[in-house]
Amino acid sequence: MNTIRQITAEETYIVRQEVLRKGQPPESCRFDGDELPTTVHLGLFDNGMLAGIVTVLDHGNPVFGTGKAFQLRGMAVRTTHQMKGFGAALLSGAEAFVKTEGGTVVWFNARTTAVGFYEKAGYQKNGPAFEIGNVGPHYMMFKAIL
Ligand SMILES: CC(C)(COP(=O)(O)OP(=O)(O)OC[C@H]1O[C@@H](n2cnc3c(N)ncnc32)[C@H](O)[C@@H]1OP(=O)(O)O)[C@@H](O)C(=O)NCCC(=O)NCCS
Repeated sequence: MNTIRQITAEETYIVRQEVLRKGQPPESCRFDGDELPTTVHLGLFDNGMLAGIVTVLDHGNPVFGTGKAFQLRGMAVRTTHQMKGFGAALLSGAEAFVKTEGGTVVWFNARTTAVGFYEKAGYQKNGPAFEIGNVGPHYMMFKAIL
């Protein structure tokens, strides 16, 4: 059985390190805005084990005008748990949270390798690919929340 619940920034670090920052120093797992009171970290637990994470920031973006936009960061599912629907469940959980907060747009910078995953969930690219240092090529992606 799996459940999604709010976790602390500290709880995300082990999965960020394992999936998103492999071989990089532990401080690379701390993201700007992690500790803001408006930031929410969600964890998906599979039979009690933390299997996936996502962070939701109340972070507007001029690209989306005056709409209330939320940014996702640090979406990661442990390699042993990938391709079981957990990533999709986390994304839905994040969108549900954004909706309760009155958000109108969800956006993020997606690794090019994950673009197909987000497209399946209805997200679209905005602009050309760009490089994020030490991580690789990304696209900005977004979706209107209705
Ligand atoms: C990308 C990631 C979050 C997806 O999570 P997941 O639990 O493996 O994905 P799901 O099982 O929920 O997949 C949902 C759908 O997306 C598809 N999908 C999953 N990963 C995909 C990918 N990288 N590219 C294209 N499609 C993908 C699945 O086949 C599935 O399709 P279906 O509904 O037709 O069966 C996860 O693989 C991951 O953590 N990857 C490494 C880190 C990463 O890239 N994070 C994103 C940073 S922006």
